[in-house]
Amino acid sequence: MKKRNVKRDDSPSVQKPAKLQQKKKEKTSTSWKKIILLSLGAAVMLGFSVYILPELIQQVVFMYRNFSLNHTVNMYFTPEEGISLGVWLTVPDDQWKEAQGKDLSWYEKSLGNGSPVFIYLHGNTKNRAAPHRIGVSKVLSALGYHVLVPDYRGFGDSTGEPTEDGLTTDALYVYDWVKARSGNSLVVLWDTHSGQGLVSTNLAVKLLERGVVLDGVILEGAFNAAPTNLPVTIFYWFYWSLPGVKYMFAAGTKNPVFPSVENLKKMKSPVLFLHSEDDPFVPIKVIEEMHEIAANAQSKDRVKLERFDGSKGYLHNGLYRDAKLPGVLKDFVESL
Ligand SMILES: *[C@@H]1O[C@H](CO)[C@@H](O)[C@H](O)[C@H]1NC(C)=O
Ligand SMILES: *[C@@H]1O[C@H](CO)[C@@H](O)[C@H](O)[C@H]1NC(C)=O
Repeated sequence: MKKRNVKRDDSPSVQKPAKLQQKKKEKTSTSWKKIILLSLGAAVMLGFSVYILPELIQQVVFMYRNFSLNHTVNMYFTPEEGISLGVWLTVPDDQWKEAQGKDLSWYEKSLGNGSPVFIYLHGNTKNRAAPHRIGVSKVLSALGYHVLVPDYRGFGDSTGEPTEDGLTTDALYVYDWVKARSGNSLVVLWDTHSGQGLVSTNLAVKLLERGVVLDGVILEGAFNAAPTNLPVTIFYWFYWSLPGVKYMFAAGTKNPVFPSVENLKKMKSPVLFLHSEDDPFVPIKVIEEMHEIAANAQSKDRVKLERFDGSKGYLHNGLYRDAKLPGVLKDFVESL
């Protein structure tokens, strides 16, 4: 017993330093492994976003050309030196057969055929190939409208970093590009979600300075520049932690980014708010307030709010699935 005890006491005391060192070695080697793995991961991600993403988007274009948006062309705009924007242009559904195998110049010419043109400015996550965005394009194209979907700088395969000025420049460039080709057709802006919900209002005010009134503006799931009004939910937190989102409101207090409420007060275009009652990021109450402000500045005839049933589970961006949407859009376009 005694011997054993001594042995027990001895062995640890002798072996401790060696074991500890070994453990330390193991630890350092695992942390090195971790660092190497993480760096590899980061390199792969970087490679993915810089090189593979454009490829992927092209692939998706081809896939959708073959399967659903088969009347779409992919192109790139240069709103300013060093900035390239990836853009999809889809012609109305009834031209799908004619569109097969056509090049960009055919699509550009088609913009002037008298059908309304929608510029769809997407929200501040992902890219133009996101399923709900393709869903919106399909609805609009089926109604007989052209749809132009750009990825702002810093999104999808577009280069650069998103800033308020940059996004506004992008939107203005896209608008001018369309107007140069769309003849007398209506040009409607469809603006979605959060930060960008307000880019269209920036654009509208910029155009007013030129004496131009936008034909119509649709704001889907938009919210104003005061995110403090919004309740903090887990979804909300997740959303704000996504890349790109912080840029939108980074300037914060000093220089409010996207002064949408001020813009809405100045706007002279018909506005249609689309909002799902169960939107977890933007409570319908916030939109009701925005609608009220915009309608007071113009009139209830020119500024409308269309609500979508909260029991249907559309959440933040699913209302394109609603059966009443095509009718709502058609009525709006016919009222312009
Ligand atoms: C789409 O169709 C073209 C031929 O029209 C074919 O070359 C291409 O591989 C198809 N792409 C996909 C993703 O199915
Ligand atoms: C192409 O798109 C049109 C309109 O969405 C659809 O009706 C048609 O079936 C599609 N054609 C093919 C070959 O996928």
